[in-house]
Amino acid sequence: MATIFSAEKSLTSQTSDEAVEHEQEQEADEGRSSESYTEIISTLPREKGWTTEYMYQYQGFWYLSTTGVEGVMRVQKHFKARNEDILLATLPKSGTTWFKPLIFAIMNRGRCDFATHPVLTTSPHDLVPPLENYFHQNIAYPNLDSLSSPQLLFHTHISFTSLPQSVINSQGRIVYVCRNPKDVFVSTFYFLNRMADKNVEPLSVEEAFEQFCKGVSFYGPFWDHVLGYWKASLEWPERVLFMKYEDMKKDSPFHLKRLAEFMGCPFSSEEERQGVVHEILKLCSFENLSNLKVNNTGTFQLGTRKIGKHIFFRQGEVGDWRNHLTNDMVDRLNKIVEQKLSGSGLTFHDSVER
Ligand code: A3P
Repeated sequence: MATIFSAEKSLTSQTSDEAVEHEQEQEADEGRSSESYTEIISTLPREKGWTTEYMYQYQGFWYLSTTGVEGVMRVQKHFKARNEDILLATLPKSGTTWFKPLIFAIMNRGRCDFATHPVLTTSPHDLVPPLENYFHQNIAYPNLDSLSSPQLLFHTHISFTSLPQSVINSQGRIVYVCRNPKDVFVSTFYFLNRMADKNVEPLSVEEAFEQFCKGVSFYGPFWDHVLGYWKASLEWPERVLFMKYEDMKKDSPFHLKRLAEFMGCPFSSEEERQGVVHEILKLCSFENLSNLKVNNTGTFQLGTRKIGKHIFFRQGEVGDWRNHLTNDMVDRLNKIVEQKLSGSGLTFHDSVER
């Protein structure tokens, strides 16, 4: 059978000797470092969380919980990037759940039949696993050294400046997807409310907006996250592709082809003639993904908690912020973002929305 390129698949492919050795190393590391992580985290700045007791700031970015920070520290310590890897990087609620299967389907076309495609039966978050989760304290981290497949797909929410040094040093490619900050805010607000701690009163939309404007948001500040990858994409265009959710919505075939080209596997004219681009877009459409049993039933492990898979699908539209933000909120956020991004060449226009 042809190899399917996904980290999930390959992470299970080590031999039993390798697995035992790795488990021993991991146990030693757990004992050695858990306390030191806790010690460092106890000194970090914290703020009231949107739906958790506190959010913690580490290396300039905000995380939902101590375990979130610890996941990042563990990724920084253990992840060894390889030149063949493709890393999808996003801020939460920027369309990660869409781009994961898109990238997976681009990479594995020719190996998968559209009628029985893995996207139909596997959650996007298992097809392209989040690094932070693998390295989380309660989940065994994988022995990445033992992976043998030529190319792997991973995902991270970690900011460019906090990426493990091995990612920067490798020749691996990074696809960054961002989204209009007003839609990111609204989508985050509803997502976090749906996964709120039972014992914590969630912030009101006004309070959460205030935090967002201060930069205290899920892996935020928004502007620092996008700027980190934006600048990297200008400096290393062959290694970092900067994409927008709205662009993919507006002209999906064009941007899918751009993505495939960047990933080193452009569509041939024969594939285009056969409608492969269209098939991939149809397979990964909001309508198709959100109606699949694998995506609307069951739970997904996010850090220490299990959350319903269905909450990754809400509307999948551009511009839903118009239904939730007041004019004052819009003006205020527009001004902040404009000022923070000023001089960078990066802009978020509302006019591209439909
Ligand atoms: P909304 O809350 O605005 O609907 P992430 O995966 O980064 O957490 O982003 C989630 C957002 O992407 C949600 O936005 C979700 O509905 C949307 N989304 C999920 N699958 C999608 C798809 N196939 N096409 C477009 N948007 C999608």
